[in-house]
Amino acid sequence: MKTVTILGASGSIGSSALAFLRLHREAFSLESIALGRDWKAALQIAREFGCTTVALADPEAARRFRDESGGLACAVIDGPHAASAVAAMPVDVVLAAISGSIGYAPVLAAVRARNRVALANKEALVCGGRGLLDLARQLSTSIVPVDSEHSAILQCLAAGRPEEVRRIELTASGGPFRRWSREAMSQASVADALNHPVWPMGSKNSLDSATMANKGLELIETAYLFDIAPNSIDVLINPSSLLHSAVHYVDGSMIAMLGKADMRNAVGYGLTYPDRMVTGVDPLDLAEVGVLTFSRADNDRFPCIDLAREAVRQGQGAAMMFNAANEIAGRLFMCGAIGFLQIEQIITGCLASDTSRYAADVDDVVPADAAAKAFAEAYAGARFAAAEVD
Ligand SMILES: NC(=O)c1ccc[n+]([C@@H]2O[C@H](COP(=O)([O-])OP(=O)(O)OC[C@H]3O[C@@H](n4cnc5c(N)ncnc54)[C@H](OP(=O)(O)O)[C@@H]3O)[C@@H](O)[C@H]2O)c1
Repeated sequence: MKTVTILGASGSIGSSALAFLRLHREAFSLESIALGRDWKAALQIAREFGCTTVALADPEAARRFRDESGGLACAVIDGPHAASAVAAMPVDVVLAAISGSIGYAPVLAAVRARNRVALANKEALVCGGRGLLDLARQLSTSIVPVDSEHSAILQCLAAGRPEEVRRIELTASGGPFRRWSREAMSQASVADALNHPVWPMGSKNSLDSATMANKGLELIETAYLFDIAPNSIDVLINPSSLLHSAVHYVDGSMIAMLGKADMRNAVGYGLTYPDRMVTGVDPLDLAEVGVLTFSRADNDRFPCIDLAREAVRQGQGAAMMFNAANEIAGRLFMCGAIGFLQIEQIITGCLASDTSRYAADVDDVVPADAAAKAFAEAYAGARFAAAEVD
């Protein structure tokens, strides 16, 4: 039986993982879960799966959990380091599905403990950079991507050797504003931005899909994970999100991975890699689909993709700043302090600063991320009077 820990168990990815584990109770044991503050979800999951340890970042939520969990033989850890503590407990695989760079420290803890990581938390890799992957290699463990695009690329790369790869097509749905003009986007509300046409996701990922900063983060993730130059990664819009990404080989062949737009697929593969198991996702019926449409990403309307490409060229400090500025600007937009297009303006302005100072060894990523966020907050505050992160 494989032992599993889920970081972010109440979230969108966490829920897909639980759905997968319900299909395979004989093959997997969910040992530990980490959440932020949703103690009710923690209680329900711990009861259903018989978890031995629950981590809750919020001490008050942990108190409620302890009060209500009478009879449950389950240890509770709380506080800001709780997720890292459970990530370091030995298991076969840790699913990293916390949102944002706050998920970095638990991923590092899992790698240091030589736990294999199924990584949904792309921000952790963007911040940790190649150093995090090198550390995983040194410790003979691995980081397996769970983002549907990177899971697809991993599968497509099995068809050839690294030196035979010509380019990578990173696909995108185009998000809720695929057809919106810049003028319309300038008036977009939070509800508009979170209204993703294909994927049900947590709010940060949904907003990042609207700005396409999500694709920027994924471009950085692709460059690091598969050691490929940012200029060799193209972003391809497939509105139905049925083609999850593709790899071009030197002989003119293109290997693509297709499947229904359902994260149980990539989450299941991340947990079982390199094996495959039933995920509950039905096979794709191409005759029923009939037509797949594609177009190039519009960098003029969605500049975050090229900003991320440039960040990879500049180095890890710039990638760190891309993420930090995006997180700060995203929070400001969500609380109504700035408009939608000001998100990209804040990222652009922050990337124009000296970002080299945020390049950090794996153990210094947390303070470097905090410094980058402090800079982004000050930049936004100075430029947009109403900007203040709550
Ligand atoms: N959703 C998708 O389809 C999708 C696809 C590909 C990649 N991803 C990536 O996967 C990650 C998760 O995305 P999501 O959409 O699943 O996010 P989400 O729905 O917002 O869920 C976030 C999870 O993290 C937990 N959490 C927050 N702060 C925490 C802390 N300090 N310690 C421990 N747990 C904490 C939350 O717990 P509470 O509920 O208690 O706050 C929740 O369980 C992101 O990096 C995203 O980019 C998501």
